[in-house]
Amino acid sequence: MQLNGEGVNVKRILVLNGPNLNLLGTREPEIYGRLTLEDINEALRQRAHTAGVDEIDFLQSNFEGELVEAIQKARGRYDYILLNAAALTHYSIALRDAIAAVPVPVIEIHLSNIHRREEFRHTSVIAPVVVGQICGFGLDSYIAALDIAIRRIQKDTK
Ligand code: DQA
Repeated sequence: MQLNGEGVNVKRILVLNGPNLNLLGTREPEIYGRLTLEDINEALRQRAHTAGVDEIDFLQSNFEGELVEAIQKARGRYDYILLNAAALTHYSIALRDAIAAVPVPVIEIHLSNIHRREEFRHTSVIAPVVVGQICGFGLDSYIAALDIAIRRIQKDTK
């Protein structure tokens, strides 16, 4: 944790989005809504700015390894990760192991309520290694995760 000149915790947040989330807006809008990923990122950017977040970075990837690397590189660089791992949520042990290996707290996000959907979506292999999961609220899943991350960084609680 770093302090700025005013003795306030510096807040650096990384937002990661997994496979197919680049298609938001046109992808199954009845499930995921009509906002694009850029709409979501812009809403987060604005909220982060208002809340005094020092840095918020975004990465979307369709490749498991790229997300694993982003998590590995987050060590010492970010205070919190907001992660919508998309389909990888349900089977990627590599992603789970990366989260467990790196001491940066992660909040798991889903636009849809994965527990109300097909049975294979009920399992999250990353859930046991994240701080918590927010799902079912569309854009608000991301906003709520950001707000929680900010509060926790402020209080210096993981
Ligand atoms: C998702 C839910 C996943 O089951 C699915 O594979 C996604 C999106 C969500 O945000 O609701 O791609 O993570």
